Amino acid sequence: MLPQGPPARRLLGAAALIGGVPSLALLALLLAGEVTVLPGLLALLAVAAAALALARIWLGSLGRLSDAMRRAEAGEAELPEIPGPPLLPSVAEIAEGVRRLARSQRERAELVVRLRRADEAIVEKLPDPLVVLDAAGQELRANAAARLLFGTAAGGGDLAALRRHPALAEALDAALADAAPRQVDVSLPVPVARELLVHVIPMEPPLADGGRVVLLLSDRTRDRAVERMRVDFVANASHELRTPLASLIGFIETLRGPAQGDAEAQARFLGIMAEQSERMRRLIDDLLGLSRIEITEHQPPTGRVDLGLLAASEAAAMAPILAGRAVTLESALAEGAVAAPADAGQLAQVVRNLLENAVRYGRDGGTVRLSVARAEPGGRWPSRPGVVLAVADDGPGIARHHLPRLTERFYRVDRGRARHAGGTGLGLAIVKHVVNRHRGQLAIESEEGAGAAFLVWLPAEG
Ligand SMILES: Nc1ncnc2c1ncn2[C@@H]1O[C@H](COP(=O)(O)OP(=O)(O)OP(=O)(O)O)[C@@H](O)[C@H]1O
Ligand SMILES: [Mg+2]
Repeated sequence: MLPQGPPARRLLGAAALIGGVPSLALLALLLAGEVTVLPGLLALLAVAAAALALARIWLGSLGRLSDAMRRAEAGEAELPEIPGPPLLPSVAEIAEGVRRLARSQRERAELVVRLRRADEAIVEKLPDPLVVLDAAGQELRANAAARLLFGTAAGGGDLAALRRHPALAEALDAALADAAPRQVDVSLPVPVARELLVHVIPMEPPLADGGRVVLLLSDRTRDRAVERMRVDFVANASHELRTPLASLIGFIETLRGPAQGDAEAQARFLGIMAEQSERMRRLIDDLLGLSRIEITEHQPPTGRVDLGLLAASEAAAMAPILAGRAVTLESALAEGAVAAPADAGQLAQVVRNLLENAVRYGRDGGTVRLSVARAEPGGRWPSRPGVVLAVADDGPGIARHHLPRLTERFYRVDRGRARHAGGTGLGLAIVKHVVNRHRGQLAIESEEGAGAAFLVWLPAEG
């Protein structure tokens, strides 16, 4: 498209600039009689016409050039070629320069956009939650991990609760004041208890979007729970060992002192001491067994075990204990229910621990049902082939709120009663670890007053 023709005044002005001096010189020569009239007038006319033509070409080219510059400024990358008049080659060169400038400006703008997108993608995909706040502490951005942690709504309730946390609010103010990063531990009680380590990183100068502070959060809930469990474990294990040990020391002192000549008392005390030492031995055996299972938990077992036969032989070995509490055992053991891959020794321990619990915490004169069956496809168990071992009693059962914690080490529903019954709270922890190692599943069903059932699903041969 050609630019509009220049207005007449600008055209005349430019023509006067070009042809003014030669015309005046010609006029002066004419007036002085140095040039004859007719050729003089013709030459004057020719100068004026040439000046007008040149002015038109010149203004036209400059007009097209300034139009191209306006388009380049507006971000247009591909400018049309601007032909320069043959008499004014520099206009063509300038036009080419403008075209090149426009192209490189456009490329640079695209690069900036690409770099920004790359930065945003990195921040968005960071595994740790990250939140950008403005100077007033309002949320500007949150990455995917942060949105997951706090729910999707921007500035949602949880994040608002975090920002209101006194320790964090204080750290935010301090970081904005001295521009130095700091860390704070924050625990949020609701809606889910969480322990977070928050890095407060002030941005100086501020980010392009006005961000003044970056909060980098790491969820320490799990670490803290593991730490607490470890501390609890050491405390529980030493407590469990200390009780029988204290009683042993006490009896040894009594046997050496006051009971020295009392044969009847000696026999009684030695009986209790044997019981207490047996208790300590069992506790240590269970603890060692548990850590052995834990060590091998990541490597699946290799054998195959006929669960019906195994359950039958374990039940037979427990007959005296069952008889001791007048408990009737009802067995329903399917033939050929083979668990694989499986470890016979560990599965025997599972059956033993579950039967022992059923007798120990069941009813005197009650019934214990022991069953082994192939898992029905569908329902609660995985769809792969499997076998299910179940041990159920008709005792007092377990209150619902205890169920999730039963498999924790040393967890006992009724500490006094369980300890009196000789329990240390490790039996079900062992069961859970063995089931985990077999990549199986453990389900506990119970209602207070209605007995308890422990079901173990194990993978079977296909
Ligand atoms: N069949 C059951 N009926 C009622 N409560 C049970 C039953 N089985 C387990 N419990 C409860 O679960 C707790 C944990 O059981 P677990 O077998 O882990 O430990 P324990 O029997 O106390 O000790 P251990 O098995 O190490 O000798 C028991 O103390 C008991 O309170
Ligand atoms: Mg037990």
